Amino acid sequence: MVSIITIFFFIFHLHFLSIIFIANASSSSSSSIISRFQEYLQINTAHPNPNSYEAADYILSQAKSLSLEAQTLEFVKNKPIILLKWTGKNPELPSILLNSHTDVVPVESHKWVHDAFGAHIDSQGNIYARGSQDMKCVGLQYLEAIRKLKNSGFEPTRTIYLTFVPDEEIGGHDGAEKLAESDVFKEMNVAIILDEGLASPSAKYRAFYAERSPMWLVIKATGAPGHGAKLYDNTAMENLMKSIESIRRFRASQFDMVKAGLKAEGEVVSVNMAFLKAGTKTPTGFVMNLQPSEAEAGFDIRVPPTADQEAIEKRIAEEWAPASRNMTYEHGQFKQKQSTLDNFGNPALTAVDNSNPWWALLEEAVQGAGGELEKPEIFPASTDARYFRRQGLPAIGFSPMANTPILLHDHNEFLNQAEYLKGVEVYVSIIKTYSSYDKHSEAKASSFRDEL
Ligand SMILES: *[C@@H]1O[C@H](CO)[C@@H](O)[C@H](O)[C@H]1NC(C)=O
Ligand SMILES: [Zn+2]
Repeated sequence: MVSIITIFFFIFHLHFLSIIFIANASSSSSSSIISRFQEYLQINTAHPNPNSYEAADYILSQAKSLSLEAQTLEFVKNKPIILLKWTGKNPELPSILLNSHTDVVPVESHKWVHDAFGAHIDSQGNIYARGSQDMKCVGLQYLEAIRKLKNSGFEPTRTIYLTFVPDEEIGGHDGAEKLAESDVFKEMNVAIILDEGLASPSAKYRAFYAERSPMWLVIKATGAPGHGAKLYDNTAMENLMKSIESIRRFRASQFDMVKAGLKAEGEVVSVNMAFLKAGTKTPTGFVMNLQPSEAEAGFDIRVPPTADQEAIEKRIAEEWAPASRNMTYEHGQFKQKQSTLDNFGNPALTAVDNSNPWWALLEEAVQGAGGELEKPEIFPASTDARYFRRQGLPAIGFSPMANTPILLHDHNEFLNQAEYLKGVEVYVSIIKTYSSYDKHSEAKASSFRDEL
C-alpha cells in the first residue's frame, strides 16, 4: 500500500512539476516577452496627460507575477513612482538600482506610418511605438531578465531595486529628483545606478558616464533708437550682433573639434540659437526705417562636466553680454542653469577606469552576453541619471539597442524584436554579474565615494 501511495505521489508530483515547468516556459517564451512589451507600449503615457497610473498598474501586475516586493511612492500627487525590490542573500551589501521612466514625449500622429500606441510589428519584426526606444524597452527588459533569472533558480547576493518614474521627459523634478533626495533612497543604500542610454547604429552598444548640463541663455541689448538711414554707433542691433558674432565663433570652434574627430558630440560645449527677437512690428510686417532700441536672442547651451562652467559664465559676462555694451543676460525663461558639479563639488561624472569596478563589470557582463561596448560617452542631452550622480553615486546610461537607428523623440520610433530579445539576455548577464559582486571595501565606485 505504502509503495503505491508513494508512486502515486511521485507521479502526481512529476505532473505538478511539469505544469509549473510548462507555465514558466510559456511565460518566458519569446512571443510572450514581445506581447508584454507591446502591452506596455500600448499604454499612452505621452505628455501632457500621461496615463501614469495605468503604466504603474501594469508594472505592479508584472511585479506580482515575479513575486517582487512592490510599493508606490508619490512625492507629488499624480506622479506615482513604482519601487520594486528583489532582496539579496546579503542585504547588508549596497544595492543595485535599475531605473527607467514610464512617460514618453508626444507624437504627431499623422506623421506616423503606424499608430504610435499600437505597437504594430512589421514584416521585418520592427515594433513601432512611441517609447519603443525611449525607454519602455529598458524598463520591461529589466523585468524580463529577472523573470529568466528567477526561472533558472538564480538568487542575487546584493539586493536589486527597480524604479519606474513618471516624468523624465518634462525634467524629472517630481520623479527621480525627489526620489534621489528622499529618505527612502538613502535607506536603499544604492551602490550603482543603471539608467537609459541611446540606440547605436553600429553593432556595438553605447554607454554613458556623464551628461551635459543645460545652461540656457537669453541676452538683451539696448541702444539709442534712430532713423533707419542714419549710420551711428551703439545701436541695440549692432550691440547684439557683436555678441552673436562672438558666440558664433565659439560655436564653430567647438563644432570643428567634433567634425575633425577630436572630440565626441557630448564632450564639447554646444551652442545653438533658439530665438531672435527685435524690430518694431506693424500689422503687416516690420517698420523698416527705424533702428529699434531693444534686441534679444536666446541660446541653448550644453556644458559637459569636463568643461569649465565658470569660464563660460565669465565669457558670457565679458564677451557675449557685457554691461559695457549696454547688455544684460539671464539664464533662460525657466532660469535653466544646472551645475556641472555634484553636491560635493566634484564634476558629476562616473569613473570609467579601474577605479570603478561597476564599469569593468558592465563590460564583462555585456561581453558575456555576446555584445560589445563602444568607448564610453557623455550623453549629449539630459536624463534622470544626473540626479543620482549629483548624490555622488556612479550611474551608467545604457540601453541595449545595437544595429538600430536613433529614433528617440522622432516619428516612427521603432525597435526590432530580435534586438529587444537580445537586450533581455544582456540584462540577464548584467543583473547576474552586478548582483553577484560581493566585494565590499576594496571597491571604489568613484573617487568621491568612500565605501561601496
Ligand atoms: C549705453 O547706453 C548709454 C545710455 O543710453 C549710451 O550713452 C552709451 O553710448 C551706450 N553704450 C553702448 C556701448 O552702447
Ligand atoms: Zn528617455
